[in-house]
Amino acid sequence: MFSKLKLFTGNANVALATEVAAFAGIPLSDADVFKFSNDDTFVKINDNVRGSDVFIIQPTCYPVNDNMMELLIMIDALRRASASRINCVIPYYGYARSDKKDQPRVPITAKLVADLITVAGADRVITVDLHADQIQGFFNLPVDNLFSLPIFIRHIKSLGLDVNDIVVVSPDSGGANRARQFAKRLNCALAIGDKRRIGNNNNSEVLHIIGEVKDKIAIIFDDIIDTGGSMIQIAGKLKSEGTKHIYACCAHGVLSNNAVEKLEKSPIDKLFITNTIPLSEEKKGCDKVVQLSIAELLSLAIKKVHLEESLSILFK
Ligand code: R5P
Repeated sequence: MFSKLKLFTGNANVALATEVAAFAGIPLSDADVFKFSNDDTFVKINDNVRGSDVFIIQPTCYPVNDNMMELLIMIDALRRASASRINCVIPYYGYARSDKKDQPRVPITAKLVADLITVAGADRVITVDLHADQIQGFFNLPVDNLFSLPIFIRHIKSLGLDVNDIVVVSPDSGGANRARQFAKRLNCALAIGDKRRIGNNNNSEVLHIIGEVKDKIAIIFDDIIDTGGSMIQIAGKLKSEGTKHIYACCAHGVLSNNAVEKLEKSPIDKLFITNTIPLSEEKKGCDKVVQLSIAELLSLAIKKVHLEESLSILFK
């Protein structure tokens, strides 16, 4: 049934790709993906892909530009090797937050990246928790935007918390819809932070929280934790308003700079992230960070796309 399905990976997240392949029950196909001493990236596909339905598993996480170039060059190599369909599985879409021209003379890099992937020769994109749904429209290709929500819901339910005590919190109005879905699935209350960005440096401040949070267990739900600024700001505000415990769920644990150190000192009890982005050993050593696997979800999506089946069940 899967004779023509082939999985490839670059260097972005080999552990995740290996796990996806194990769930799919097929080995990763062989490719050399490396840099020459002059910094040029080179790709050599070592398996025959003529007529194959190929999936490249490559999040465009840190080092973003290197991982992006690996993806583009792999697409090019596979297209020239006569793959019949090239599906890009990009669990974390780098540059997603550059999705609008909200200041004079700034780029829309998420659109530029979509153009690059398209021109390279991709036929489809599968991703997870896109920062903004409208990024799907930056492509004139099918984009399947999977949700991490079921993974977090399953985990939160396993903690055995009383739903009457829980309030799901969106750090800002942009994420309110995402958090509302979470609250609906848990059948619990919702609160929304009134966040304001300060300057260009990704700094933010939470002015108010809309909703009841006193004596509650807060579950902050966001798509990305990068410097940790947004998450820690809202956690501080929740604590000052009398929240009992604070958990946070984020699909993409970028955790740049000293985010983990800040997290350690914050009132957040646990941060649940997925493995769309690999964690360094140092970050894995932080007791507050718990990584949940997205591999099974990705493998199911890959199988369904390959078999031309509906993906709707994966959103339930
Ligand atoms: C913002 O709109 C995003 O959803 C995240 O809240 C934000 O990008 C996280 O970045 P940081 O951790 O640096 O505050």
